[in-house]
Amino acid sequence: MKFLSYKKKFFFVDKISIEKLSKKFKSPYYCYSLSQIKLNLDNFKNLFNKSSPLICFSVKSNSNIKILNELKKEGCGADVVSMGELSAALKSGIKPSKIVFSGVGKTEEELLFAIKKNILLINIESESEAILLNKISQKISKKIFVGIRLNPNVNSGNIRKISTGLNDDKFGLTEKNFLNLFKKVNNYKNLTLQCISVHIGSQILKINPFKNTLNVLEKIINKTNFQFKYIDFGGGIGIPYENKNNKFDLRKYSNLVEKFALKHRCKIILEPGRFIIGNAGILVTKITYIKKTKNKDFIILDAGMNDLIRPALYNARHSIVPSKKNNTNYKKNIEFVGPICETSDKFLNVKKYQHIKEKDFLLILDVGAYGMSLASNYCFRPKPAEILISKSNIKVIRKKEKINKLIMNN
Ligand code: LLP
Repeated sequence: MKFLSYKKKFFFVDKISIEKLSKKFKSPYYCYSLSQIKLNLDNFKNLFNKSSPLICFSVKSNSNIKILNELKKEGCGADVVSMGELSAALKSGIKPSKIVFSGVGKTEEELLFAIKKNILLINIESESEAILLNKISQKISKKIFVGIRLNPNVNSGNIRKISTGLNDDKFGLTEKNFLNLFKKVNNYKNLTLQCISVHIGSQILKINPFKNTLNVLEKIINKTNFQFKYIDFGGGIGIPYENKNNKFDLRKYSNLVEKFALKHRCKIILEPGRFIIGNAGILVTKITYIKKTKNKDFIILDAGMNDLIRPALYNARHSIVPSKKNNTNYKKNIEFVGPICETSDKFLNVKKYQHIKEKDFLLILDVGAYGMSLASNYCFRPKPAEILISKSNIKVIRKKEKINKLIMNN
């Protein structure tokens, strides 16, 4: 992590130290490095430079409109799954011709909205959706471009809760159902099929699940004997969290994908989320209390599971580091917890740590993706602010919510 790291004792995001930033902003707050986001995107683009794919940033990973706008300036499109995400992407300036819309439960209202906005593709996930989409398009006399999402029955080998590619999962169409719908698609006069899409899950660190997916795609494309204009390979590329050595081989992946698309003469769509922004964000939190018990000390933070739910929901492990390093040792086992009245409101257990005390600032790392976008108002807690750092420039890109507004918002 080049732009989020220690300089001597102090943790910096670009040119700003968290100690300094925390004098200005009340914790907990999210803080992102624009340089890191751009670096991640450049690395991604460079590996696909032979095919110049359409990179549709997955808005669910981080839907902050200022960040979307920065990604737009870098040429990104958007992968959206709701009317809210579609509206945010449009508002950020991303062109409709660079937006793809997936999701198993798009409502009539959402489909109508997407059709009217002339987005690039709607990826259909069931026959019922195809029927409804055709009906709506007919009603407003519009012809639209669609993809069909394949469920390849591939195990992505990651956390079960974020796997999407098995036939047991609700996503996409099984091979048989895909081919059935493919045969019928010509009957839907207002739909023009252009894309086959697939997304087998998230935080995938091995290449094999992707290889297996390409094998299934190959089989299906051959069976249809159809010239798809696009293959949408989805997202899913994992990043190293705690274990920094466990890195996905993106070069291998890009080679496979580019070869595949070349063979089938298709344009490539990719929908990365986590890879672009995961390591570019931290959650800054302050120690409210330290509660000592016989076996361990509870480090009670001002950030809770409403601010960052990944540890509670998926047992995800995010490193927690001090904003200021010292050379002393904490003498006991530590459990970092939030203030919320649930046992699962805990972030991490550690056996070794430096000495820390109440009011110190700590940073929960690698939370740029699926951090703020999954935050909630549980326990009537206002969602945190989001700060974007670009070199020495500090920008509030989302203000901390106000309790009064939360209470009166009905
Ligand atoms: N495309 C589609 C259709 C998706 O459903 C997703 C993520 C992506 C792209 C982006 O995947 P990525 O490149 O970010 O892995 N909340 C979970 C992750 C859920 C991902 C859902 N779909 C987490 O915190 O790990």
